[in-house]
Amino acid sequence: MSIQKQERRDFIGMAFGAVAAVGGAFALVGMKKSWDPLPSVKAAGFTTVDLSPMQPGEFRQVEWRKKPIFILKKDDSMKANPKRDIVIGDGNYIVTIGLCTHLGCIPSWSPSDKLFKCACHGGEFNADGMNVFGPPPRPLDIPPFKIDGTKLVLGEEGPEYKKLVATV
Ligand code: FES
Repeated sequence: MSIQKQERRDFIGMAFGAVAAVGGAFALVGMKKSWDPLPSVKAAGFTTVDLSPMQPGEFRQVEWRKKPIFILKKDDSMKANPKRDIVIGDGNYIVTIGLCTHLGCIPSWSPSDKLFKCACHGGEFNADGMNVFGPPPRPLDIPPFKIDGTKLVLGEEGPEYKKLVATV
């Protein structure tokens, strides 16, 4: 076989290989799509948190749909705020999405100042989640929730949630 013919064969072989590789990649993408849950199934994601073990002044961070959620049980030094508080039994709780309303950093809770402080640009929110300093343009957002006994169910719009967002 001449060298030219051999090179031509090599080229055709490589071309077939490349086509097969691209086809394989498309097939994998198709398979992954069929494994992924449907958007409606993803949207049905709930997170349930039992609030009853929380002590006054305790802060917890949980995750709901890949977002940080802040839960704070107010103590006596924090004033009640009917526009932001969720009342369960004799406890007042603040529940917010833990993303700064400026550019989306995750603020941290400072128990000594009773402030949520955002390290990115110095924004601050009080214990109610209200923006009190720096560039954040609005309070921390409240995630949809419902109350089931002493449990907080994130991802469903219960009457307590509707009441809070109606008063904002
Ligand atoms: S992202 Fe929080 S102050 Fe800018």
